[in-house]
Amino acid sequence: MPLSSHRQARPAAEAARCAAAEGRYWAYHDRLFAEQPRFAEDRLIAYAVDLGLDRDAFARCLAERRFARDVEADVRQARALGVRGTPTFIINGRVLVGAHPVETFRTIIEEFLRDQHVGAIPGPPLEDTLPFVKVMEVDGVVVGQGTLVESQGVALAVFKGGDGRFFACGAICPHEDGPLAEGWLEGDAVVCPWHGFDFDLQTGRCRVAEALSIPVYPTRVTEGAVEVDLP
Ligand code: FES
Repeated sequence: MPLSSHRQARPAAEAARCAAAEGRYWAYHDRLFAEQPRFAEDRLIAYAVDLGLDRDAFARCLAERRFARDVEADVRQARALGVRGTPTFIINGRVLVGAHPVETFRTIIEEFLRDQHVGAIPGPPLEDTLPFVKVMEVDGVVVGQGTLVESQGVALAVFKGGDGRFFACGAICPHEDGPLAEGWLEGDAVVCPWHGFDFDLQTGRCRVAEALSIPVYPTRVTEGAVEVDLP
């Protein structure tokens, strides 16, 4: 999430992608973190060389801005999720902005654990605590494709099934944070576009890895709009 207020953040993010292409993302990431804000181009290249990457190839990757579009896509996705700054945390769809003490995270996670399934960090409870809220118009929605929407601080992936039913779930795949709104429907399950894990949209449970689940929310259509019952 390179913020425009940090002039060198974007080149650094693109450099990290160049390192990732050589299988050294996390090592490079850690080096950037330790060296911030020393992100001038010659430094970015020197860090890569220190990690054993080829100087010329890395410099070319940087100069060509080979991963500029990928970084821009990340920024757009973050904005669509309502992320405007760092740090921002999304815990089972609940957005937490800013630096918080560990107790805050513990409380939120314990609430989820108390309210939901055993053996997973689950989604929020489905009981009615708020009325249904409108999240999008029905018009133009393509069957099987996801739409990313944000409502009341919750990032949602909304899908229309072949039978006209709508499904809503958390937007982030719990496997490795894949974008579920870019996934697709298979029956009553959403398939994550990154590694293909699928999640039952009735229960939220992952069909591939039992320990994983996503929050799912009741939906209804009223006067041409999709409404979701958020926790
Ligand atoms: S991130 Fe979704 S399956 Fe890996």
